Amino acid sequence: MVSVKRAATYVEKGGVGKTTSAAHIAVAAHEQGETVLLVDLAGTQNDLATHFGLDLGEDAERIDAPISAVFGDDWEFLKDNVDDLLDRMTFDTDEGPDLIPADPGLGGADNNLANVPLEDRFDKLDDFVDDLVAPQYDLVIFDLPGKEDNIALNGLFAARDVVAPLKPGAFERDQLRKLDATLDEISDDLDVDLGLTLVIPTIINQSENLSEEFVAYVRGEFPEVVGHPVTKTADIGNNQDEGRTLYGVSDDELYSTGDRARESYTANTEQLLDSLTER
Ligand SMILES: Nc1ncnc2c1ncn2[C@@H]1O[C@H](COP(=O)(O)OP(=O)(O)O)[C@@H](O)[C@H]1O
Ligand SMILES: [Mg+2]
Repeated sequence: MVSVKRAATYVEKGGVGKTTSAAHIAVAAHEQGETVLLVDLAGTQNDLATHFGLDLGEDAERIDAPISAVFGDDWEFLKDNVDDLLDRMTFDTDEGPDLIPADPGLGGADNNLANVPLEDRFDKLDDFVDDLVAPQYDLVIFDLPGKEDNIALNGLFAARDVVAPLKPGAFERDQLRKLDATLDEISDDLDVDLGLTLVIPTIINQSENLSEEFVAYVRGEFPEVVGHPVTKTADIGNNQDEGRTLYGVSDDELYSTGDRARESYTANTEQLLDSLTER
């Protein structure tokens, strides 16, 4: 039985750096020798495709099997009848990892899953990974919605290991504690062992007390799984606008903050890869 390392970026909140972290960890892992698949399950706005400068408008007709199909009734038929099904679903990012973009059907797929019997509702993505992803990749990363819907639950069930980026703020402290409790509850419900594997304090401004306190808090609360803080840098947003990660730029094009943020993502990825077991 072939296996693959799996992780999901998940926090029940938007704007904390989930998508940015998924993209940067994916590219860093590729640079560390892994073959990587990124899967965008985070709503339909296709942030990961944008992050890598992929214009799906032109390629849309290529998507004869969008990721939402994995959750639908026709999936078994597609799997049995379409050659190279996974290759048809993936796009090349130019920075190493392959990407399965989000698609407009994800909203409907979430609703339809509500009518699927509980025992079959949450393992669809896990089966997809076992059947098609594991034979081709070393690592798969799911970028999940910022809410606990049926798609997110499929992602958590398939990954088990959660990467939670969080930015400073009193509210985020509650969020972190709540996330830990939520993962425990979901573990009970799904009868699997989900856990925080990497907590990344991100968008950290080293000259702000709030940021320093936040990093200290996360280190105190989650000493085993805290990662390297990622500096707040204009380079992240600027390069996202250009359709690339910090790894897609040469050193002299980055501010020192961008350089530090990139180094942190590299170290966080090493830490994550050390913590993940293939399954
Ligand atoms: N280290 C960083 N420094 C500055 N801005 C960042 C950093 N990381 C992420 N951002 C910005 O924060 C915003 C939210 O990040 P994103 O990854 O989209 O969060 P989420 O996926 O959790 O909604 C984006 O505009 C992104 O450019
Ligand atoms: Mg996002």
